[in-house]
Amino acid sequence: MTHRIGYLVGSLSKDSINRVLAKALVRLAPDELELTEIPIGDLPLFNRDDEMNPDPAVPRFKERVEASDGLLFISPEYNRSIPAPLKNAIDWGSRPWGKNSFARKPTGIIGASVGAIGTAVMQSSMRSVLSFLDAPQLNAPEAYISFKPEVYGEDGEVKDPGTEKFLRHYMEEYAAFVARVLSVTLPGHMGDSDPDTMH
Ligand SMILES: Cc1cc2nc3c(=O)[nH]c(=O)nc-3n(C[C@H](O)[C@H](O)[C@H](O)COP(=O)(O)O)c2cc1C
Repeated sequence: MTHRIGYLVGSLSKDSINRVLAKALVRLAPDELELTEIPIGDLPLFNRDDEMNPDPAVPRFKERVEASDGLLFISPEYNRSIPAPLKNAIDWGSRPWGKNSFARKPTGIIGASVGAIGTAVMQSSMRSVLSFLDAPQLNAPEAYISFKPEVYGEDGEVKDPGTEKFLRHYMEEYAAFVARVLSVTLPGHMGDSDPDTMH
């Protein structure tokens, strides 16, 4: 069975190393995953005053998220946290109240950095956010990519066999996770997390 996966790239840079990583992951993904990018660069800055009458980019974004069987976040780490464009997109997608587009979507988080900890702190922040949004996450393998430009070609070919094997394995595990979650999730469920958990 084919699963439609929407991927979000957390960088808006035209030279993004995370976009290069995304291309590699699309190439290495198993056949049962159909990966399509969900763009985030056209979203306005989140303002809750606009929730009920948002820019057309917002419902377009939410529809794409909701139409996906699973979501993959491929993102840099900015100042030890989630880049603003990605957090902005997540905030839009989580609203308005009761219309959280991320609920029950199987998710994966992966990121590339020029630094040695390879986005680990950003990923930890993402896990908190996605937990609150009731989005199940692939726990293992974790994938903290310390980006080496010489390893990746323009179109996402991976020139180092060890890296290729690791990324292929990550995508296989993500595909198995998506299948597992969907096998126990009612289709079309639109849940929401309760911010008022301190009664
Ligand atoms: C505003 C800003 C903050 C950054 N903070 C971090 C950081 O906390 N940790 C890290 O590993 N790299 C950090 N970097 C370096 C990024 O890893 C590097 O710029 C990387 O290329 C960004 O990914 P991208 O090419 O996909 O945009 C930061 C870069 C910018 C522009």
